[in-house]
Amino acid sequence: MVSRRDTLKSLLLTGMVVGAPNCLRSLHAAEPATQALRVPALETGRLVFGERIFDLRLQSGVTRFYQDVETASWGINGSYLGPTLRVRNGEQVRIHVHNSLDEDSILHWHGMNVPARSDGGPHQHIAPGATWSPQFRVRQPAASCWYHAHTMHKSGPQVYRGLAGMLIVDDEHSDTLGLPTEYGIDDIPLVIQDRIFDRDGQFVYPERMQDHMVGVRGNTLLINGTLNPSFRASRPLTRLRILNGANARNFTLALSNGASFWQVATDCGFMEQPLELTQLVLTPGERAEILVDTSGSEAFKLVNIPVPEPDIPYYGLFTDLLRAMDRQPFDILEIHPSGIAVTGMPALPDKLATIEWLPESAATAVRSIRLQMGNGPGQGGGLGGGPHARREYGGWGGGIHKINGREMDPAYIEATIIAGTTEIWEIINETPMIHPFHIHKVHFQILDRNGEPPLPSERGFKDTVNVPALGSVRIIAHFSGPGDPLMPYMFHCHILEHEDHGMMGQFMLI
Ligand code: C2O
Ligand code: CU
Ligand code: CU
Repeated sequence: MVSRRDTLKSLLLTGMVVGAPNCLRSLHAAEPATQALRVPALETGRLVFGERIFDLRLQSGVTRFYQDVETASWGINGSYLGPTLRVRNGEQVRIHVHNSLDEDSILHWHGMNVPARSDGGPHQHIAPGATWSPQFRVRQPAASCWYHAHTMHKSGPQVYRGLAGMLIVDDEHSDTLGLPTEYGIDDIPLVIQDRIFDRDGQFVYPERMQDHMVGVRGNTLLINGTLNPSFRASRPLTRLRILNGANARNFTLALSNGASFWQVATDCGFMEQPLELTQLVLTPGERAEILVDTSGSEAFKLVNIPVPEPDIPYYGLFTDLLRAMDRQPFDILEIHPSGIAVTGMPALPDKLATIEWLPESAATAVRSIRLQMGNGPGQGGGLGGGPHARREYGGWGGGIHKINGREMDPAYIEATIIAGTTEIWEIINETPMIHPFHIHKVHFQILDRNGEPPLPSERGFKDTVNVPALGSVRIIAHFSGPGDPLMPYMFHCHILEHEDHGMMGQFMLI
């Protein structure tokens, strides 16, 4: 006998796109066709004696991603994700983070140039019932940053359950650009995440070794925690602050009608001028602000387009997983334009920012950062030879993620950097998959990737960079003070399972 549920199940299965390693697509009957995009609450805190104070609470709860299904989830001041925090360059900020969960956690302010003690990372934790109150002065230009759990060995599962949010920095210059700035109206954050739901509509965080080797990828997208979202524009031009908030998946963004959009900001702030694009790749942790023409009347979609099968040599057990990675197309957001007719191109500022490009000659040190998977000679046997045999490339298959031959060790400092100096880091990917490499505190510039100039979409300040399989990227960064000889900063792969399993290191700024 075929039940109604089974029919729905097979209907959903035939409509399902294959390619994700973990195809446990939710089979619950109540998947909504489309629903209004949720926009996280905007939180500006309270001003007390010139200090902007925020109160955040890490909490568990239930969220209705599916109609009539309560999914157990975590959030910050809510049941899933957190509010968008808004601060201004020059302001003194204090954030009280209270942990109402029943396990340790910590929040990190990704993209923020803050003192090491306020940065939030694996050396710090907030015990259940405790409150942590980092403070800092905002010392950086306008940007779309974010915050997320950064607990030792647990960033992956904690972010997956919902501990993340956006953090917007404004400054005087951004006020004068004439860009869309009405939060929730024409200035919209988009947190893109992929998840796996079980048949009962509950999150599944896979624990299989192979999921952790390549990073946890889901087959269902949540955008600001909305399943199948749609957005109704009311202005002819809409600014999207896009965060790849996935644990591991890379997204290649495009508009379904083939139209152009304009990128105005990279991770850490405005670009020199708007960049017209039809495609944009964001790896986990990266952000971009784009302007989308919403003047017409025909609905279109922001979509993820699948990348072609990568040409990778044979890596045994993981070959199929690597080939399937990021090949799943997704609709990200249905957009209903405003219907407001404008003639010609939208009016965009010709100049957004002045960027001082750091010359290589400014660097007083050059460091090599080697990203590695596997356990070196003698481990992970049974893999193919070929041009990238594992011995030559530092290993593949041992299940251990490393930087410069070492798993994250809280007692080991990879680099001690004098505040006020500039360095070049060469990040060398010895593995057959992309790693998004992130450095805390600093905003860097990309010098080159595999010897070629960075993409136009990367010409600006960055804190996370796509390091291609078996390739390398050179970045240059100015390490401003203040230093702290007792608390290190992290650098790591932003595939959260890689970070959790050891592809992380530390520098001390003194
Ligand atoms: Cu967004 Cu150390 O991470
Ligand atoms: Cu960070
Ligand atoms: Cu990685």
